[in-house]
Amino acid sequence: METNTPGGPAAPLLQVDGVTLTFGGVRALAGVGFDVAPGSITAVIGPNGAGKTSLFNTISGFYRPTAGSIRFKGQDITHVPAPQRAKLGLGRSFQNIALFRGMTVLDNIKLGRHAHLKTNVLDALLYFGRARREEAELRADIEERIIDFLEIDHIRHAPVSALPYGLQKRVEMARALAMQPQILMLDEPVAGMNREETEDMARFILDVRAEWGVTVLMVEHDMGMVMDLSDHVVVLNFGQVIAQGAPAAVQADPEVIRAYLGSGDVGDLRQKFQALAGVV
Ligand SMILES: Nc1ncnc2c1ncn2[C@@H]1O[C@H](COP(=O)(O)OP(=O)(O)OP(=O)(O)O)[C@@H](O)[C@H]1O
Ligand SMILES: [Mg+2]
Repeated sequence: METNTPGGPAAPLLQVDGVTLTFGGVRALAGVGFDVAPGSITAVIGPNGAGKTSLFNTISGFYRPTAGSIRFKGQDITHVPAPQRAKLGLGRSFQNIALFRGMTVLDNIKLGRHAHLKTNVLDALLYFGRARREEAELRADIEERIIDFLEIDHIRHAPVSALPYGLQKRVEMARALAMQPQILMLDEPVAGMNREETEDMARFILDVRAEWGVTVLMVEHDMGMVMDLSDHVVVLNFGQVIAQGAPAAVQADPEVIRAYLGSGDVGDLRQKFQALAGVV
Protein backbone atom coordinates (compact mmCIF):
# COMPACT_ATOMS: atom_id res chain seq x y z
CA MET A 1 0.00 0.00 0.00
CA GLU A 2 1.41 3.35 -0.96
CA THR A 3 1.42 6.19 1.47
CA ASN A 4 0.52 9.75 0.63
CA THR A 5 3.04 12.48 1.13
CA PRO A 6 1.49 15.08 3.41
CA GLY A 7 0.41 17.96 1.21
CA GLY A 8 1.53 16.07 -1.89
CA PRO A 9 -0.67 14.66 -4.62
CA ALA A 10 -2.99 11.86 -3.50
CA ALA A 11 -1.94 8.32 -4.44
CA PRO A 12 -3.64 7.10 -7.62
CA LEU A 13 -6.87 5.18 -7.11
CA LEU A 14 -6.17 2.99 -10.12
CA GLN A 15 -2.79 2.22 -11.67
CA VAL A 16 -2.55 0.48 -15.03
CA ASP A 17 1.01 -0.51 -15.78
CA GLY A 18 2.43 -2.13 -18.92
CA VAL A 19 -0.80 -3.93 -19.74
CA THR A 20 -0.59 -6.14 -22.82
CA LEU A 21 -3.47 -8.24 -24.12
CA THR A 22 -3.53 -10.54 -27.12
CA PHE A 23 -6.36 -12.42 -28.80
CA GLY A 24 -4.73 -15.20 -30.81
CA GLY A 25 -2.51 -13.23 -33.15
CA VAL A 26 -4.16 -9.86 -32.50
CA ARG A 27 -2.47 -7.60 -29.99
CA ALA A 28 -5.33 -5.50 -28.64
CA LEU A 29 -3.21 -3.75 -25.97
CA ALA A 30 0.53 -3.22 -25.93
CA GLY A 31 2.14 -1.93 -22.75
CA VAL A 32 -0.68 0.40 -21.71
CA GLY A 33 0.03 2.49 -18.64
CA PHE A 34 -1.78 5.34 -16.90
CA ASP A 35 -3.06 6.38 -13.48
CA VAL A 36 -6.51 7.46 -12.39
CA ALA A 37 -6.40 10.10 -9.67
CA PRO A 38 -9.01 9.88 -6.91
CA GLY A 39 -11.92 12.22 -7.58
CA SER A 40 -10.96 12.70 -11.21
CA ILE A 41 -12.89 12.23 -14.41
CA THR A 42 -10.47 10.38 -16.66
CA ALA A 43 -11.37 9.67 -20.28
CA VAL A 44 -9.92 7.06 -22.61
CA ILE A 45 -10.30 8.05 -26.25
CA GLY A 46 -9.06 6.63 -29.52
CA PRO A 47 -10.23 5.58 -32.98
CA ASN A 48 -12.42 2.50 -33.53
CA GLY A 49 -10.58 -0.70 -32.69
CA ALA A 50 -7.91 1.17 -30.68
CA GLY A 51 -8.42 -1.16 -27.71
CA LYS A 52 -10.60 0.94 -25.40
CA THR A 53 -13.21 -1.71 -24.61
CA SER A 54 -10.48 -4.37 -24.30
CA LEU A 55 -8.79 -2.11 -21.76
CA PHE A 56 -12.03 -1.74 -19.81
CA ASN A 57 -12.59 -5.50 -19.88
CA THR A 58 -9.06 -6.03 -18.60
CA ILE A 59 -9.46 -3.51 -15.79
CA SER A 60 -12.75 -5.03 -14.68
CA GLY A 61 -11.30 -8.56 -14.89
CA PHE A 62 -13.17 -10.08 -17.83
CA TYR A 63 -9.88 -10.43 -19.73
CA ARG A 64 -6.61 -11.54 -18.22
CA PRO A 65 -3.65 -9.47 -19.48
CA THR A 66 -0.70 -11.34 -20.99
CA ALA A 67 1.65 -8.88 -19.27
CA GLY A 68 1.48 -5.91 -16.94
CA SER A 69 -0.40 -5.14 -13.75
CA ILE A 70 -3.47 -3.36 -12.44
CA ARG A 71 -3.53 -1.88 -8.96
CA PHE A 72 -6.61 -0.56 -7.24
CA LYS A 73 -6.26 1.42 -4.00
CA GLY A 74 -2.64 0.27 -3.96
CA GLN A 75 -3.60 -3.42 -4.11
CA ASP A 76 -2.47 -5.57 -7.02
CA ILE A 77 -5.72 -6.90 -8.51
CA THR A 78 -4.26 -8.33 -11.73
CA HIS A 79 -5.27 -11.85 -10.71
CA VAL A 80 -8.42 -11.02 -8.78
CA PRO A 81 -11.58 -12.40 -10.47
CA ALA A 82 -14.11 -9.93 -11.91
CA PRO A 83 -16.85 -10.32 -9.25
CA GLN A 84 -14.34 -9.61 -6.47
CA ARG A 85 -13.16 -6.51 -8.31
CA ALA A 86 -16.73 -5.26 -8.43
CA LYS A 87 -16.96 -5.94 -4.71
CA LEU A 88 -13.76 -3.97 -4.09
CA GLY A 89 -15.37 -0.96 -5.76
CA LEU A 90 -14.93 -1.16 -9.52
CA GLY A 91 -18.35 -0.55 -11.06
CA ARG A 92 -19.01 -0.47 -14.77
CA SER A 93 -21.46 -0.11 -17.61
CA PHE A 94 -21.15 -1.68 -21.05
CA GLN A 95 -20.72 -0.28 -24.56
CA ASN A 96 -23.76 -2.22 -25.75
CA ILE A 97 -26.48 -1.94 -23.14
CA ALA A 98 -26.37 -5.03 -20.95
CA LEU A 99 -29.68 -4.70 -19.14
CA PHE A 100 -32.33 -7.38 -18.80
CA ARG A 101 -34.78 -5.99 -21.30
CA GLY A 102 -37.86 -7.87 -20.09
CA MET A 103 -37.34 -6.79 -16.49
CA THR A 104 -38.36 -3.52 -14.91
CA VAL A 105 -36.03 -0.62 -14.26
CA LEU A 106 -36.14 -1.25 -10.52
CA ASP A 107 -35.33 -4.95 -10.88
CA ASN A 108 -32.38 -4.13 -13.09
CA ILE A 109 -31.07 -1.71 -10.49
CA LYS A 110 -31.54 -4.32 -7.76
CA LEU A 111 -29.28 -6.62 -9.75
CA GLY A 112 -26.44 -4.22 -9.02
CA ARG A 113 -26.50 -5.52 -5.46
CA HIS A 114 -25.32 -8.92 -6.66
CA ALA A 115 -21.82 -7.57 -6.56
CA HIS A 116 -22.19 -7.60 -2.80
CA LEU A 117 -23.95 -10.93 -2.32
CA LYS A 118 -22.27 -13.27 0.09
CA THR A 119 -20.64 -16.25 -1.55
CA ASN A 120 -19.51 -18.80 1.02
CA VAL A 121 -21.74 -21.01 3.15
CA LEU A 122 -20.95 -19.38 6.48
CA ASP A 123 -21.63 -15.96 5.07
CA ALA A 124 -24.83 -17.27 3.55
CA LEU A 125 -25.99 -18.56 6.93
CA LEU A 126 -25.14 -15.30 8.65
CA TYR A 127 -26.95 -13.51 5.89
CA PHE A 128 -30.34 -14.68 7.16
CA GLY A 129 -32.06 -12.97 10.03
CA ARG A 130 -31.21 -9.55 11.32
CA ALA A 131 -28.21 -8.88 9.11
CA ARG A 132 -30.27 -9.68 6.09
CA ARG A 133 -33.08 -7.36 7.08
CA GLU A 134 -30.66 -4.56 7.80
CA GLU A 135 -28.95 -5.09 4.51
CA ALA A 136 -32.30 -5.12 2.71
CA GLU A 137 -33.20 -1.79 4.32
CA LEU A 138 -29.86 -0.29 3.47
CA ARG A 139 -30.17 -1.53 -0.10
CA ALA A 140 -33.65 -0.09 -0.49
CA ASP A 141 -32.32 3.22 0.77
CA ILE A 142 -29.51 3.25 -1.74
CA GLU A 143 -31.84 2.24 -4.57
CA GLU A 144 -34.19 5.08 -3.72
CA ARG A 145 -31.33 7.57 -3.66
CA ILE A 146 -30.15 6.40 -7.06
CA ILE A 147 -33.63 6.50 -8.60
CA ASP A 148 -34.13 9.97 -7.23
CA PHE A 149 -30.71 11.17 -8.29
CA LEU A 150 -31.02 9.91 -11.87
CA GLU A 151 -34.62 11.17 -12.16
CA ILE A 152 -36.06 7.81 -13.18
CA ASP A 153 -38.80 7.52 -10.57
CA HIS A 154 -41.55 7.76 -13.20
CA ILE A 155 -40.24 4.70 -15.05
CA ARG A 156 -39.26 2.49 -12.13
CA HIS A 157 -41.88 -0.17 -12.98
CA ALA A 158 -41.53 0.08 -16.75
CA PRO A 159 -39.88 -2.77 -18.61
CA VAL A 160 -36.51 -1.66 -19.92
CA SER A 161 -37.44 -2.73 -23.47
CA ALA A 162 -40.15 -0.04 -23.55
CA LEU A 163 -37.72 2.81 -22.85
CA PRO A 164 -35.96 5.09 -25.30
CA TYR A 165 -32.25 4.47 -25.68
CA GLY A 166 -31.14 7.49 -23.65
CA LEU A 167 -33.14 6.35 -20.64
CA GLN A 168 -31.83 2.80 -20.96
CA LYS A 169 -28.30 4.16 -20.72
CA ARG A 170 -29.32 6.05 -17.59
CA VAL A 171 -30.75 2.86 -16.07
CA GLU A 172 -27.48 1.11 -16.82
CA MET A 173 -25.66 3.85 -14.97
CA ALA A 174 -28.10 3.43 -12.07
CA ARG A 175 -27.32 -0.26 -11.90
CA ALA A 176 -23.58 0.42 -11.91
CA LEU A 177 -24.11 2.93 -9.07
CA ALA A 178 -26.07 0.33 -7.09
CA MET A 179 -22.77 -1.52 -6.70
CA GLN A 180 -21.60 1.53 -4.72
CA PRO A 181 -18.39 1.75 -6.72
CA GLN A 182 -15.44 3.95 -5.93
CA ILE A 183 -14.65 4.08 -9.61
CA LEU A 184 -17.49 4.17 -12.07
CA MET A 185 -16.38 2.89 -15.46
CA LEU A 186 -18.57 4.04 -18.32
CA ASP A 187 -18.07 2.65 -21.83
CA GLU A 188 -19.45 5.25 -24.25
CA PRO A 189 -22.12 6.71 -21.95
CA VAL A 190 -23.55 9.03 -24.62
CA ALA A 191 -23.11 6.92 -27.77
CA GLY A 192 -26.28 7.10 -29.88
CA MET A 193 -27.79 9.89 -27.78
CA ASN A 194 -29.28 13.10 -29.10
CA ARG A 195 -27.97 16.47 -27.92
CA GLU A 196 -30.41 16.81 -25.03
CA GLU A 197 -29.81 13.27 -23.76
CA THR A 198 -26.07 13.86 -24.03
CA GLU A 199 -26.28 17.04 -21.98
CA ASP A 200 -28.35 15.26 -19.33
CA MET A 201 -25.83 12.44 -19.11
CA ALA A 202 -22.92 14.90 -18.89
CA ARG A 203 -24.67 16.59 -15.97
CA PHE A 204 -25.25 13.25 -14.25
CA ILE A 205 -21.59 12.31 -14.63
CA LEU A 206 -20.49 15.58 -13.04
CA ASP A 207 -23.08 15.17 -10.27
CA VAL A 208 -22.02 11.59 -9.57
CA ARG A 209 -18.60 12.88 -8.77
CA ALA A 210 -19.77 15.93 -6.83
CA GLU A 211 -22.56 14.31 -4.81
CA TRP A 212 -21.40 10.71 -4.49
CA GLY A 213 -17.66 11.26 -4.44
CA VAL A 214 -17.24 8.70 -7.20
CA THR A 215 -14.19 8.75 -9.47
CA VAL A 216 -15.11 8.32 -13.14
CA LEU A 217 -13.21 6.46 -15.84
CA MET A 218 -14.94 6.64 -19.19
CA VAL A 219 -14.47 5.67 -22.80
CA GLU A 220 -16.17 8.18 -25.05
CA HIS A 221 -16.22 9.19 -28.70
CA ASP A 222 -18.05 12.49 -28.18
CA MET A 223 -15.09 14.88 -28.19
CA GLY A 224 -17.04 17.87 -26.91
CA MET A 225 -18.09 15.90 -23.87
CA VAL A 226 -14.61 14.49 -23.26
CA MET A 227 -13.01 17.91 -23.45
CA ASP A 228 -15.66 19.54 -21.24
CA LEU A 229 -15.77 16.94 -18.51
CA SER A 230 -12.37 15.32 -18.19
CA ASP A 231 -9.46 16.22 -15.96
CA HIS A 232 -7.19 13.73 -17.67
CA VAL A 233 -7.37 12.20 -21.14
CA VAL A 234 -5.59 9.02 -22.26
CA VAL A 235 -5.35 8.46 -26.01
CA LEU A 236 -5.08 4.93 -27.38
CA ASN A 237 -4.18 4.00 -30.93
CA PHE A 238 -3.50 0.44 -32.08
CA GLY A 239 -3.42 -0.68 -28.46
CA GLN A 240 -0.84 1.85 -27.32
CA VAL A 241 -1.01 5.08 -25.35
CA ILE A 242 0.06 7.75 -27.83
CA ALA A 243 -0.65 10.73 -25.58
CA GLN A 244 -2.09 11.60 -22.20
CA GLY A 245 -2.60 14.73 -20.18
CA ALA A 246 -4.97 17.64 -19.74
CA PRO A 247 -7.69 17.87 -22.42
CA ALA A 248 -6.28 21.03 -24.02
CA ALA A 249 -2.78 19.55 -24.37
CA VAL A 250 -4.03 16.26 -25.77
CA GLN A 251 -6.28 18.03 -28.23
CA ALA A 252 -3.35 20.01 -29.62
CA ASP A 253 -1.06 16.98 -29.91
CA PRO A 254 -0.23 16.38 -33.59
CA GLU A 255 0.00 12.61 -33.11
CA VAL A 256 -3.49 12.53 -31.64
CA ILE A 257 -4.85 14.58 -34.49
CA ARG A 258 -3.21 12.27 -37.01
CA ALA A 259 -4.52 9.18 -35.28
CA TYR A 260 -8.04 10.52 -35.49
CA LEU A 261 -8.07 11.96 -38.92
CA GLY A 262 -5.46 10.01 -40.87
CA SER A 263 -2.26 11.49 -42.17
CA GLY A 264 -2.20 14.89 -43.82
CA ASP A 265 -1.46 18.48 -43.03
CA VAL A 266 -1.54 18.77 -39.25
CA GLY A 267 -2.51 22.45 -39.23
CA ASP A 268 -5.62 21.68 -41.21
CA LEU A 269 -6.31 18.57 -39.15
CA ARG A 270 -5.98 20.45 -35.90
CA GLN A 271 -8.73 22.77 -37.04
CA LYS A 272 -10.98 19.85 -37.90
CA PHE A 273 -10.23 18.17 -34.60
CA GLN A 274 -11.02 21.31 -32.67
CA ALA A 275 -14.23 21.68 -34.61
CA LEU A 276 -15.01 18.09 -33.59
CA ALA A 277 -14.37 19.07 -29.98
CA GLY A 278 -16.59 22.13 -30.30
CA VAL A 279 -13.69 24.52 -29.72
CA VAL A 280 -14.14 26.59 -32.90
N1 LIG B 1 -12.98 -10.96 -27.84
C1 LIG B 1 -12.14 -10.63 -28.84
N2 LIG B 1 -11.56 -11.58 -29.61
C2 LIG B 1 -10.72 -11.25 -30.60
N3 LIG B 1 -10.34 -9.99 -30.90
C3 LIG B 1 -10.90 -9.00 -30.18
C4 LIG B 1 -11.82 -9.25 -29.11
N4 LIG B 1 -12.19 -8.07 -28.55
C5 LIG B 1 -11.53 -7.12 -29.25
N5 LIG B 1 -10.75 -7.67 -30.22
C6 LIG B 1 -9.87 -6.94 -31.13
O1 LIG B 1 -9.05 -6.08 -30.35
C7 LIG B 1 -8.91 -4.81 -30.99
C8 LIG B 1 -9.44 -3.72 -30.06
O2 LIG B 1 -10.86 -3.81 -29.97
P1 LIG B 1 -11.73 -2.97 -28.92
O3 LIG B 1 -13.12 -3.46 -29.02
O4 LIG B 1 -11.06 -3.01 -27.62
O5 LIG B 1 -11.61 -1.50 -29.54
P2 LIG B 1 -12.37 -0.15 -29.15
O6 LIG B 1 -11.32 0.89 -29.02
O7 LIG B 1 -13.27 -0.36 -28.00
O8 LIG B 1 -13.22 0.13 -30.46
P3 LIG B 1 -14.66 0.88 -30.63
O9 LIG B 1 -14.37 2.34 -30.61
O10 LIG B 1 -15.10 0.43 -32.00
O11 LIG B 1 -15.57 0.43 -29.53
C9 LIG B 1 -9.63 -4.91 -32.33
O12 LIG B 1 -8.70 -5.27 -33.29
C10 LIG B 1 -10.64 -6.02 -32.07
O13 LIG B 1 -10.97 -6.67 -33.28
MG1 LIG C 1 -15.28 -0.18 -27.67
